[in-house]
Amino acid sequence: MTIRLRALSTHIGAQVEGIDLRRPLSAEQAQIIHDEMDRYAVLVFREQHLDDAQHLAFTQALGELEDARGSSLRANADFRLPTTFADVSNLDGNNQVFAAGDRRRLFAIGNRLWHSDSSFKPTPAKYSLLRAVRTPSRGGNTEFAHMGAAYDALDDEAKTLIEDLVCEHSQLYSRESVGFSEFTDEERVRFKPVRQRLVRTLPRTGRKSLYLSSHAGTIVGWTIPEARLLLRDLNEHATQRQFVYSHAWREGDLVMWDNRQTMHRARPYPADEPRDMRRTTLQGEGPTLAVEPGEHRAVQTA
Ligand code: OGA
Ligand code: MN
Repeated sequence: MTIRLRALSTHIGAQVEGIDLRRPLSAEQAQIIHDEMDRYAVLVFREQHLDDAQHLAFTQALGELEDARGSSLRANADFRLPTTFADVSNLDGNNQVFAAGDRRRLFAIGNRLWHSDSSFKPTPAKYSLLRAVRTPSRGGNTEFAHMGAAYDALDDEAKTLIEDLVCEHSQLYSRESVGFSEFTDEERVRFKPVRQRLVRTLPRTGRKSLYLSSHAGTIVGWTIPEARLLLRDLNEHATQRQFVYSHAWREGDLVMWDNRQTMHRARPYPADEPRDMRRTTLQGEGPTLAVEPGEHRAVQTA
């Protein structure tokens, strides 16, 4: 089989055909996937109907898994899936839909805000691979926005302003922004903010992108209102429709995205219907601050 790709929009996303993800991935196929991820940032594999083991095997053929634990309000008793998976469903440990007011649900629907996965971890995520096991009768799309295209479209003044800025990211910030602010002391410690560059460079292509996320709540050295206003402006710019692909799920789909050069968000759906989505995540190369802001600029202008 030959792998074929069909672009899904001007800036972002391609549908991949001619590959059976249930079978072991060859080194050549893995290389093609990495190259096309650099290029399209989102790859859609329609109706592959993987099971958990196949989903995990495909993921591990592409890199190092990220530890999926500790990022939600699920207790161990709520785990339906192996700890190698992020449970992105609205289901508890007994496969029952969370009540509308359930705290675990209200925390989880924070993913309806534009974000990049694990931007609140010191080493944030590289790729996420999300599979639809059960979809609701309507709604529940996932939208993706291309942060490289958004960066390119900024004017020079904005590019200069943000070049060396560093943000602090935490799930406390994203949740507080939608009025969810009751956290236990343990959660406040666990969700302690981490620093990330606002402009990052994709290692293999050298392309710059905006590293935005609803988890970003402060800019180091800035007042909070000014930081929030700049981040709001940048988010508004970066999520204009020309930078966005919206995925309407079919059961069995697997969509993978590059968190280094995209943001994504879930869209609403009926709260009483099950939506079973399962995600594996690959770890990034290291902290985005491994290159200090000053050093980065010196390299650039040399
Ligand atoms: C995720 C996520 C969005 C969705 O899996 O990281 O944000 O539509 N999912 O479920
Ligand atoms: Mn996400």
